[in-house]
Amino acid sequence: MRWVGIASLVLASLAPGVFAVKSQDFKTCSQSGFCRRGRALSERAAEAKGAWVSPYSLDSSSLSISPNDASFTAAVKSSLYPDIKFGLELRIHDDGVVRVRMDEVDGLRKRYDEAASWALIREPEVSKDIKWSAGKKDVKAKYGENEVVVSYAPLKVTLLRNGKEQIVLNGEGLLHMEHFRGKEEPKAQEEEVVADSEGQQQEVLQPEPEVNPRAWFEGETEDAYWDEKFNTWTDTKPKGPESLSLDITFPNHAHVYGIPQHATRLSLPTTSGPDPTYTEPFRLHNADVFEYLADSTMSLYGSIPLMHAHSADSTVAIFNAVGSETWIDISHPVPGKSTKTHWISESGILDVFLLPGPTPSDVFAQYARLTGTTALPAHWSLGYHQCRWNYVSSEDVRSVQKRFDEEDIPVDVFWLDIEYAEEHKYFIWDKRSFPDPVEMTNDVAATGRKMVVIIDPHLKRTSSYPVYQEASEKDLLVKNKDGNEYEGWCWTGSSSWLDCFNPAVVDWWVEKFKLEPSKNGFSWVESTKDVHIWNDMNEPAIFNGPEISMHKDSIHHGGWEHRDVHNINGMLFHNLTSLAVLRRTDPPQRPFVLTRSFYAGSQRFGAMWTGDNLGTWDHMAVGIKMVLANSIAGMAFAGSDVGGFFGNPEPEMLVRWYQVGIFSPFFRAHAHIDTKRREPYLLDEPYKSIVKDTLRLRYKMLPVWYTAFRETSVTGKPVVRPHYVEFPKDINGFELDDQFFVGSSGLLVKPVTEKGATEASVYLPAEDQVYYDYFSHSTYLSSGTGKRIILPAALDQIPLLLRGSSILPTRERPRRSSPLMAKDPFTLTVALGRGGDAKGELYLDDGTGYQHESGEWVWREFVASTEGKKKNAKVRIENKNLGKTRAGEAVDPTRVTDVSTETYDSNNAFAKSIEEVRVEKVLVLGLGSKPLSVKVEIPGEGEKELVWEWKEGVAAGDKKIKDGAVVSELVVKDPRVGITKEWAIVVQL
Ligand code: NOJ
Repeated sequence: MRWVGIASLVLASLAPGVFAVKSQDFKTCSQSGFCRRGRALSERAAEAKGAWVSPYSLDSSSLSISPNDASFTAAVKSSLYPDIKFGLELRIHDDGVVRVRMDEVDGLRKRYDEAASWALIREPEVSKDIKWSAGKKDVKAKYGENEVVVSYAPLKVTLLRNGKEQIVLNGEGLLHMEHFRGKEEPKAQEEEVVADSEGQQQEVLQPEPEVNPRAWFEGETEDAYWDEKFNTWTDTKPKGPESLSLDITFPNHAHVYGIPQHATRLSLPTTSGPDPTYTEPFRLHNADVFEYLADSTMSLYGSIPLMHAHSADSTVAIFNAVGSETWIDISHPVPGKSTKTHWISESGILDVFLLPGPTPSDVFAQYARLTGTTALPAHWSLGYHQCRWNYVSSEDVRSVQKRFDEEDIPVDVFWLDIEYAEEHKYFIWDKRSFPDPVEMTNDVAATGRKMVVIIDPHLKRTSSYPVYQEASEKDLLVKNKDGNEYEGWCWTGSSSWLDCFNPAVVDWWVEKFKLEPSKNGFSWVESTKDVHIWNDMNEPAIFNGPEISMHKDSIHHGGWEHRDVHNINGMLFHNLTSLAVLRRTDPPQRPFVLTRSFYAGSQRFGAMWTGDNLGTWDHMAVGIKMVLANSIAGMAFAGSDVGGFFGNPEPEMLVRWYQVGIFSPFFRAHAHIDTKRREPYLLDEPYKSIVKDTLRLRYKMLPVWYTAFRETSVTGKPVVRPHYVEFPKDINGFELDDQFFVGSSGLLVKPVTEKGATEASVYLPAEDQVYYDYFSHSTYLSSGTGKRIILPAALDQIPLLLRGSSILPTRERPRRSSPLMAKDPFTLTVALGRGGDAKGELYLDDGTGYQHESGEWVWREFVASTEGKKKNAKVRIENKNLGKTRAGEAVDPTRVTDVSTETYDSNNAFAKSIEEVRVEKVLVLGLGSKPLSVKVEIPGEGEKELVWEWKEGVAAGDKKIKDGAVVSELVVKDPRVGITKEWAIVVQL
């Protein structure tokens, strides 16, 4: 039990190299009945080779094609169980996504069918234009380049593009929906005993074994149908077997990505077939895995059943809307060409969405239309978060803040872990150490900073805790299998859990966060609007429960077993809390709520982090891959604990970890209670100054991060992007997961995650483009086939490139927190591309409220273009108004008000509030020769000469740029132009 195991945890955290996951606490596939059954099915299929035929078929006589839209229903039968009825439904959405649903009809019980309703933002519109047509062997629909073919016997669903198979369901015949059945009592064994002449027992004749006609498919035994033991727990399984097996094949895609969260490479390695990388399938079963491995298919805290399949031809994806524990095997039938996946879930209906792509951007938009986009975060939450378990008192918080300020190190948020709460009764301050929580928060807020305080979902079972008392009286808690309040152990000791599936919890939980006294019980009056929330342990983590979680036979609202909803549970708590924080203020302020557990759709409610990582180089490295995997699965606001949760990182490691952290969408340092203090100001030189500069770099780049977040909030494209997303045709980049791009900014970073490194190898994309070292401005030329370059990477150097053709807006003045930068001037770095062109964007709004949704924003586009020949060329750098949502962006309709293109007014109140904000410097990299003049043109004001400096060097367009060559630089000093205004800087060569 973790509760009593803290002492051993201390030892582990202090002694490097002795970290070890307690794998005995978690099941392997062979210890899980339904996974065992699913894998055995696939082994039988493999042994049968070509003779294997799926027993499931569509009854064409039952086919009912809707006359109004692109949907049909049909009956499905299994030849194994002719009396059991299944219903199939296919729908093609407006955007070409195909939804495949199958359920048992008139079964003994109802299968859980609500997973999609939690994940989806709304019921998608079914296309009215696309039509199904039924033939003798199949029913088909063709639209654009896509075609969906549903074959009757055996049942198979294929999505094709230009005649080429993209996604195939049940092509391998592994579909199996175990139907509900009554429990048969085992037959008494009849034995015939024959006695010899002396009356001695001689021979025992066994009756002829019955031939089981289903054994070829289901196996001989009823393996763990009605109960299952694991360690000291018995799962009672009153509903019997109800698992779901499905093969999903990508015949023309050699790479699959996604299904977070696992600590593995981004391009998912194999788990079956010849020489698999792992022998265990990937598992999706939200779990608090203590000291998790840096390379494993084991489950972690969150589960998103979304998988991308990628080739140079196309990107497609599947979203399997299932909320129960799921195992996924991956193999490559034809290595380098195809991928086969086998999904085995414990319960629920089949509800699979096929996303046709064909580009990564299309897939992101399709997934965003289903599950929503990352909510645009409060601007301050992109700053640096300082956390540890624990800042132990109000005075501690104040003195940490003071130290940051004395050292001029920027920070936006101070965090409080569980020790702020009396006996871990969340909301209730421990007044011995936090006598003045409101004053403490106000002191932090005085510099524009915020606090984040932890609220976990376990409630201490004591009458002295009003939150528990109320929840119990109102019947808002999860029940055990016998119908009583579920009880388990967590930080609070004996605890119960809020049942977030109960709609009555919503208003009640919202009330708990109200800052004013409430007539309806407890409300958090000892808090302020500057306190935001951290939801931890919401898998849920239960120290004395099976696999450190909740018993699967416990009961949620509506009578559903925990097994049906396990992976969704954490998202609902996060959702509720984010709603509660939003409703605390009027007009509403954007809530910040961090979650550890998550599911498809969690991106709508806030940020996530990768949990209790270890202070090792391996964990630092895999954290990047995990953030990328979460990002492509919608969770764009992701990060890992900087410094590693367990252990005491040496200064070199801590420095490198900050360099990783500043390139994470969510950037927080955190540490276990038994670690030494490691706030950046405690470091010796030169480490302290390096970390300070690193933090300042994050702050300088906040405009880039905010613009990238704005893009993800409307398009679903992630904030940090792996290579295949930006260069989908560059086959040499499909495995890359240690370098990535920041939004559409042109920044390409490869954080160093190796001890003692002095240089780093970076892959340049397959394109004819120049890349600039962000710091030295040295140039590197990529080519049509892609290539590797070596960048210097001493401890104070981050391998960071800016792609030619980019314009980067930054704010270079060091400040103590991000709100203090709101009126700071901008620097524009114009990185000319090979043709003398460049582009960049800047999005700004008030950063905290929702007025941007009624058009109060600033969205600028910077464009550089070159006219004329080399010597006489003229380079124009323009600041243009973008202002409106681009057509085709998947604006999230769950927002408070929709972003309207109609209401946008470039003179809106926010734009006016920053009209004095100017550009203080323009740096132009890669001009062909020294300018004759540099002028600014302002509409209505005419032309003015500007002050500038020139440094000779190579031009972006040079054919023979040598890697590492010094680039030409033009520095235009204080052009006296506004960031919100139209102007052009004209450089005459
Ligand atoms: C587990 C979380 O993962 C960790 O970040 C936190 O410090 C502890 N719980 C204590 O709340």
